[in-house]
Amino acid sequence: MVEVPRLRPEDAEAAVLVDVYAAGVSFPDLLMSHGRYQRKPPLPFVPGVEVAGVVASAPAGSGFRPGDRVAAFIRVGGWTDRVAVRPELTFPLPDAISFRSGAGMPMNYLTAHLALTRRGGLRQGETLLVHGAAGGLGTALLQAGRALGARVIGVVSTEEKAALARAAGAHETVLVDDWLADVRALVPGGVDVLADTVGGGRFLDSVRALGKEGRLLVLGFADGIATVAANRLLLKNVDVRGVAWGSLIEDEPAYPRHQWSEVSHWHAAGHIRPVDGAAYPLEQAADALRDLEDRRATGKITLTLREESGGPVVAEQNPNREAGTH
Ligand SMILES: NC(=O)c1ccc[n+]([C@@H]2O[C@H](COP(=O)([O-])OP(=O)(O)OC[C@H]3O[C@@H](n4cnc5c(N)ncnc54)[C@H](OP(=O)(O)O)[C@@H]3O)[C@@H](O)[C@H]2O)c1
Repeated sequence: MVEVPRLRPEDAEAAVLVDVYAAGVSFPDLLMSHGRYQRKPPLPFVPGVEVAGVVASAPAGSGFRPGDRVAAFIRVGGWTDRVAVRPELTFPLPDAISFRSGAGMPMNYLTAHLALTRRGGLRQGETLLVHGAAGGLGTALLQAGRALGARVIGVVSTEEKAALARAAGAHETVLVDDWLADVRALVPGGVDVLADTVGGGRFLDSVRALGKEGRLLVLGFADGIATVAANRLLLKNVDVRGVAWGSLIEDEPAYPRHQWSEVSHWHAAGHIRPVDGAAYPLEQAADALRDLEDRRATGKITLTLREESGGPVVAEQNPNREAGTH
């Protein structure tokens, strides 16, 4: 058994202490566990970039009180029973959102908000294409795109994922095998904004899928890092734009609260409905990571640390494993 250092008392004083009910399981957790993420925490470390739970204590002036329901982003260390969070990365969680749903919201929905508003400039009536549309970030992008009034198309690898993406918010879906031809049939002039969470082998076709002055948003590399020759951008009058929410909020600490307020309005208006994936007990966290790695995950996977009622955790079978799809 390896002991991981707990929080220092001086850090705890400035932080909101949160009793964790649910913790998100994210692709960055998977990459960090392999040492393949841009940030490499010193070993040993506790994974977990985001959580939802109840405030145990909060510094004066933070705006939070013990007992408040919150979601929070902490980068690393969330898979545990109590976390210390910077106040500006702690967000009020409406009663209508469960801890399970809330645990998957900060990173994905605030990244989707940044991508489509500020970086992508998505306008009402434009077309948005989303790769990995049944995944955690993908489903958030679909819903944020609808909230902004776009026509939203999802690219997915199976019919099951297509059904999930449509239920989550996609107007249309195409299967990955022949996705470029299918998208061209749906949108002959090309798409205005393409949100790419996958990269890898389909990146060049993503540039080809753009319409005039289209914007390709580089969000992630589930299938690896891609390159593109700059002449293709010139010839088509298109942009490739990077989106790194985690870096941007270091320079602009007040921005996430502003984003959370807009996302909360989207939720109140019915545009945002987090898509819950499988929920695992903490002891099965490695299985949760394997679901992401083996491309089995749909929606947002979480770990359950406490039941919504505050009672002990009751193990839930993962339907992917019951179905024997691995
Ligand atoms: N830029 C940012 O600020 C930011 C923030 C959060 C996350 N991210 C990144 O966004 C990406 C997606 O994260 P996520 O949490 O949405 O992950 P996820 O839930 O696992 O979804 C990723 C999707 O990618 C597709 N995919 C294609 N090739 C894959 C492969 N070789 N391995 C695994 N999946 C593959 C899968 O969809 P199909 O099977 O349908 O193809 C899968 O549903 C990650 O690279 C993550 O690091 C970036």
